[in-house]
Amino acid sequence: MLGIGAYRPQRVVSNAEVCELLESTPDWIFERTGIHNRRWISGDETLRSISAGAGERALVNTGIDRSKIGALILCTSSWLKLTPHGAPTVAADLGLNGIAAFDLTSGCGGFGYGLGVAADLIRAGSAEYVLVIGAETMTVGLDPTDRGTAMIFGDGAGAVVVGPSEENGISPTVWGSDGENAEAIAQDVDFLEYMNKAQESQGTDPAVEPLGRMSLRMEGPRVFRWAAVTLPRALASALEVSGVSKEEIEVFVPHQANARINELMKKNLGLAEDIPMANDIENTGNTSAASIPLAIEEMLVTGKAKGGQTALLLGFGAGLSYAGQVVTLPPAPKEPSFDA
Ligand code: UT7
Repeated sequence: MLGIGAYRPQRVVSNAEVCELLESTPDWIFERTGIHNRRWISGDETLRSISAGAGERALVNTGIDRSKIGALILCTSSWLKLTPHGAPTVAADLGLNGIAAFDLTSGCGGFGYGLGVAADLIRAGSAEYVLVIGAETMTVGLDPTDRGTAMIFGDGAGAVVVGPSEENGISPTVWGSDGENAEAIAQDVDFLEYMNKAQESQGTDPAVEPLGRMSLRMEGPRVFRWAAVTLPRALASALEVSGVSKEEIEVFVPHQANARINELMKKNLGLAEDIPMANDIENTGNTSAASIPLAIEEMLVTGKAKGGQTALLLGFGAGLSYAGQVVTLPPAPKEPSFDA
């Protein structure tokens, strides 16, 4: 990873504000998730604009001539049109029109999947430099009264430029999925069901309930249990395939789903207690596929981690999918997304 950039939406939303519509308390939210604030898009901000915002900063921070970028991978579950997909438009917004550009949807594990694909494209010679963007506008499909999701999710985007280096800076990817438990994180209806309902309720019968929004639902405790069993094994494999020992890991950047899950994982894996662990969730919330690049950026900007250090990354979520790597961190961004 040669450079990193991020975009954090301007609007900061506190637990107290979430509790105006959600039956909960700010203390419960912080104790059970580790979240104080999250950011929500507002005004002109869209998935497209925040993706391009993060991508632009990653290009500037890398100092790369953008004509060298051969592919763009947009890791997201928030692009709202199936056709056209998002990456070609975002590439054009960044002055990269014409390059290979595709979306990659793998829930909160999406950035890990995208980073692995980018590294392998480069190793295979299909592209020399790849821009990987993890971006989400989770609040578009959020039910503000749902106790399982409303307090957790936020919006944001992070991006990295991946390219050749003398020493291997991205290990082989350790990844997997569990489709038998996929319903644990799911949209409540699919597009066809939604369109059929919309047709049925087309203003003919006043007794028909107005059509609600299409929302994301999560069986949190079920995901928590799956994570507690599957992820320590995945992390152990990530170390094995990368040939790096636990003692050599200097920074731990797990997906920012829940600070309690992350504390548990760090302990179960036997990582040293004093290793810095990402805790961007506290003021950014869970931004799904954007959370790992956002968390890396936060650690580099605040000095909790340094460019060149060896970090263990692990994304996980819908699918239920996960993907992780051992990486060398990029340099701290010259153009950060916030004032440290
Ligand atoms: O990013 C994708 C991957 N996602 C994850 O990894 C998410 C993993 N799971 C979680 O983060 C947690 O399961 C949640 C934060 C979603 C929920 O926390 P929990 O500690 O698992 O709560 P719970 O659902 O087991 O509920 C415990 C108690 C219950 O009350 P009783 O039965 O003990 O009286 C719930 O009714 O807390 C209550 N509760 C709430 N109270 C206030 C559940 N949700 C809420 C809420 N506010 N939002």
